[in-house]
Amino acid sequence: MKIIVTGGAGFIGSHTVVDLLENGFEPIIVDDFRNSKPFILDNIKKILNRDFKSYDIDCGDVDRLRVVFEKEKPDGIIHFAADKAVNESVIDPLKYYHNNITTLVNVLKVVALFPIKSFVFSSSCTVYGVPKKVPVSEKSPIQPAFSPYGFTKQVGEQILKDFAQSNPKTAISLLRYFNPIGAHPSGLIGELPLGVPNNLIPFITQTAIGIRKSLTVNGDDYETPDGTCIRDYIHVVDLASAHVLALKNSKKQKEPLVVNIGTGKGSSVLEVINSFEKVNGVKLNYSVGPRRGGDAPSVYADNSLVKKMLGWENKFNLDDALKHAWQWEKNLAEQ
Ligand code: UD1
Repeated sequence: MKIIVTGGAGFIGSHTVVDLLENGFEPIIVDDFRNSKPFILDNIKKILNRDFKSYDIDCGDVDRLRVVFEKEKPDGIIHFAADKAVNESVIDPLKYYHNNITTLVNVLKVVALFPIKSFVFSSSCTVYGVPKKVPVSEKSPIQPAFSPYGFTKQVGEQILKDFAQSNPKTAISLLRYFNPIGAHPSGLIGELPLGVPNNLIPFITQTAIGIRKSLTVNGDDYETPDGTCIRDYIHVVDLASAHVLALKNSKKQKEPLVVNIGTGKGSSVLEVINSFEKVNGVKLNYSVGPRRGGDAPSVYADNSLVKKMLGWENKFNLDDALKHAWQWEKNLAEQ
């Protein structure tokens, strides 16, 4: 099966391309490298010693995307291309409404013209806001979004549910990611954060390598066992595998599949720091600062639905992910 992967050079996209190739799919990447670098595609080829096609275009450009679909005649699409920085979305909401919503609509305009059997969408646990109960199941209510970024994920899900009604030929999967971290065990692909990272793991690895002086723990007075926030950190290779399983399952689907993709295990910021220091034998320079606005004290997944529906399981744990993230950071420093 031929699968268009928008954002296939990105963090989650690149790991999914590897998984697609390993499972006999033919990925076709559509990425204009605005948040990545072409060497990521070269490194995917090195991991598997296999080649694949890629198009350096903006997937929101309807005319150019239609030409790719006409030429390649894909069976399915995984749509990763989007922006994901919560703070930036508050400063520049129109960028997010354009790149995450207008682009999605444009991609769907093209999808509607072709016999596409499956569409897999990157959603986020951010749709649950500050959940009243953890673990968070798919039945938990969608809460008013904290940021334009979060709102684009909620609206994106609704757009796809409406699209499914009018295009029953295309099976829709909405994957609600918890906190993707780590890198490929080969150390050849991983995250390329732009500027100062907002997310915890890239900040940790950049501090450990000396790019940042010190890590600030955003508050230790939450109602959690050690006072720091709890998240469900999922290895990006495990997250990638859920996309391939969703494609395989799409034949059986009668309505959109909405599933959490998380390990089901919560870890606090201090636990992550301790685990990073232990598995990598590195001391981290950190101090505790004030809370960051908008952080929920504890968010981790009830992942029973994805296990049941897709037979998905995570193979890696937090220690593995932190080991691989550190390997990747060290490899980047040598480039
Ligand atoms: C955020 C987004 C989520 C998105 C994810 C991408 C929201 C509310 N959250 O998740 O949608 O999918 O990024 O990976 O929209 N921390 C520190 N010091 C730091 C950085 C982070 O203590 O320097 C803490 C945070 O306060 C938080 C935890 O680490 O408690 C995780 O933060 P982060 O990696 O930014 O992820 P989320 O905010 O959970």
